Amino acid sequence: MNFYIMTLFPDMVMGGLSTSITGRAMEKGLISVEAVNIRDYAGNKHNSVDDYPYGGGAGMVMQAPPVWDCYEDVCTRLGKRPRVLYMTPQGQVFNQSIARELAKEEDLVFLCGHYEGIDERALEAICTDYLSIGDYVLTGGELPAMVMIDCISRLVPGVLNNQVSADIESFHDNLLEYPQYTRPEEFRGMKVPEVLLSGHHKKIEEWRRKESIKRTLKRRPDLLADANLDKKERMFLEELLAISESL
Ligand code: ADE
Repeated sequence: MNFYIMTLFPDMVMGGLSTSITGRAMEKGLISVEAVNIRDYAGNKHNSVDDYPYGGGAGMVMQAPPVWDCYEDVCTRLGKRPRVLYMTPQGQVFNQSIARELAKEEDLVFLCGHYEGIDERALEAICTDYLSIGDYVLTGGELPAMVMIDCISRLVPGVLNNQVSADIESFHDNLLEYPQYTRPEEFRGMKVPEVLLSGHHKKIEEWRRKESIKRTLKRRPDLLADANLDKKERMFLEELLAISESL
């Protein structure tokens, strides 16, 4: 899977993504990450890529020509026109199911804006998706691009050492993950739940599903509307709801 990040701050994204699991995935050739510097397409001797907004107002706007030329260069090199994701707080809020869908692509371009944004004509010409990482405003699209690339990369086969963990993690079946424990067996008087020491795989599986349901109800009840539960699990949820209503 190949990621192209159109940015004014290539060191920022390469520094972050070359570290830890994504860095190892790059070394193994499972993913590639290329930061393309929009400033290289400035086309003027001052290398400037922004200007005052027409109609007045605060801040500067990134100009359309360098953004367009930068994208055209990526497309010419690739011999195709990949999806372009514009990082913006005005976009659809990124989540695990969007990550799963994007992980099916071979190439993805992330467009990172700065200042007061990018000239609308460049966005109209090249962007296929408008994505946000949440309802708050950052100084630029680099951190959102890094968040999304991290999340999509771990879905690429081979990137996680233990691929099953991508399948049973939080948001699988729209539930949060169950609690995890490791040694020691007792910590400050708190014991590891007995069932986890039993070696009884079916019972452990059942306990974990129930804990996932309990935890989702407590922390993210909004997820339960779309949770994938069987009949027995639905009954368990009904019981939990009945108890919480009687309290
Ligand atoms: N750029 C600035 N804020 C952002 C956000 N919340 N998500 C995506 N891109 C952004």
